[in-house]
Amino acid sequence: MIIEPKTRGFICLTSHPTGCEKNVLNQIDYIKSKPSTTNGPKKVLVIGASTGFGLASRITSAYGSEASTIGVFFEKPPSEGRPASPGWYNSAAFETQAHKDGLYAKSINGDAFSHDIKAQTLQLIKEDLGEIDMLIYSLASPVRTHPDTGKRYKSVLKPIGDTFTNNTVDFHTGVVKEISIEPCSGDDIDNTIAVMGGEDWQMWIDLLKSENVLSKDFKTVAYSYIGPSLTEAVYRKGTIGKAKDHLEATAFKITDSLKDINGKGYVSVNKALVTQASSAIPVIPLYISLLYKVMKEEGIHEGCIEQIERLFNERLYAEDLQLDDAGRIRVDDWEMRDDIQAKVLELWKDATTETLPNIGDLEGYKTDFFNLFGFNVEGVDYDKDVNEMVAIPGLQ
Ligand code: NAD
Ligand code: NA
Repeated sequence: MIIEPKTRGFICLTSHPTGCEKNVLNQIDYIKSKPSTTNGPKKVLVIGASTGFGLASRITSAYGSEASTIGVFFEKPPSEGRPASPGWYNSAAFETQAHKDGLYAKSINGDAFSHDIKAQTLQLIKEDLGEIDMLIYSLASPVRTHPDTGKRYKSVLKPIGDTFTNNTVDFHTGVVKEISIEPCSGDDIDNTIAVMGGEDWQMWIDLLKSENVLSKDFKTVAYSYIGPSLTEAVYRKGTIGKAKDHLEATAFKITDSLKDINGKGYVSVNKALVTQASSAIPVIPLYISLLYKVMKEEGIHEGCIEQIERLFNERLYAEDLQLDDAGRIRVDDWEMRDDIQAKVLELWKDATTETLPNIGDLEGYKTDFFNLFGFNVEGVDYDKDVNEMVAIPGLQ
């Protein structure tokens, strides 16, 4: 079939297998272009492995240090005439290439929050790898059904206390306008912590530890975000920020629980990037389009793969983790540089529908957004008929 982008609000309902494949192969090429390491991870489980930072972590593990990888994700398979979700095609492309290159790569598609998917993953580790030396936790989900109680929690992206008013951009139309977001109420904070906090990460670790499948010197990393004062009210000091506080505190608990195997739990604070998760957050798209402009001009722009390559090779598997005061790894260091933030703040004051195309990188934002779904990818012929019924070769 011929597949075209079909957008609704912040999401794209279709995705393109060839474009997704090209994105994955480009990321593989990027990692292969870097010096290979001998001390990188060897047996890796990635939770949230199909898109964004999780996919980049899987690729960096596999092609940076020849790791065997198991990926867990929640993606929609294709049906006749209906394309799969992009993470499906990404995983198909990754596993196809990994198998060609003689790398072990298998995956499990389902709800990572459930006991059932955890049990299946444990079984697969036992059968195929024996143990793992790294677990990357890169879930981004709006909902979680608690596996013990069956209660379904919904996360919200709201400020705490006061209504937040600031500019945002509809990146499809380029219109910059003011929006107001009402403060959270009721159980919003607790619900958001239940979904995006650290409880599920800890559950994974507790299970795998109790079953003795974590190697000596095992490492686990979850991803967090901080961002500038501009977005603070809705992000870091909002409901999602409370969940990230909880996630960050969980890293220390995990380290405590892994003392006997010298295991370590870390949080890495990553840069703001266009992903399916971040395009749904108000204000962030305007911030990202200005940030991209400034960072590209300075020659320090990075995507997910560049971020994770730096995380592995210059932090996690390097001499010095360069932890901040709160014990976190920071690969948002370039985003947060004073000169970069000062420039973004200046531009922010001038950003209107008329000025944004010049002072911001709206085009870059849009390209990245469509790229997430395999569209507007360089070198792909979108007039060519494609088979939407692509299989993931290592799917269990
Ligand atoms: P993403 O939407 O690209 O990836 C989410 C992944 O989670 C996908 O693989 C998806 O299949 C999987 N997933 C979602 N629900 C699931 C479920 N119930 N069971 C199994 N898998 C499920 O998101 P991302 O932007 O890469 O975010 C990953 C992490 O990085 C998040 O913790 C996010 O807060 C953090 N982060 C994001 C940014 C950013 O700007 N995008 C910046 C810093 C940190
Ligand atoms: Na991810």
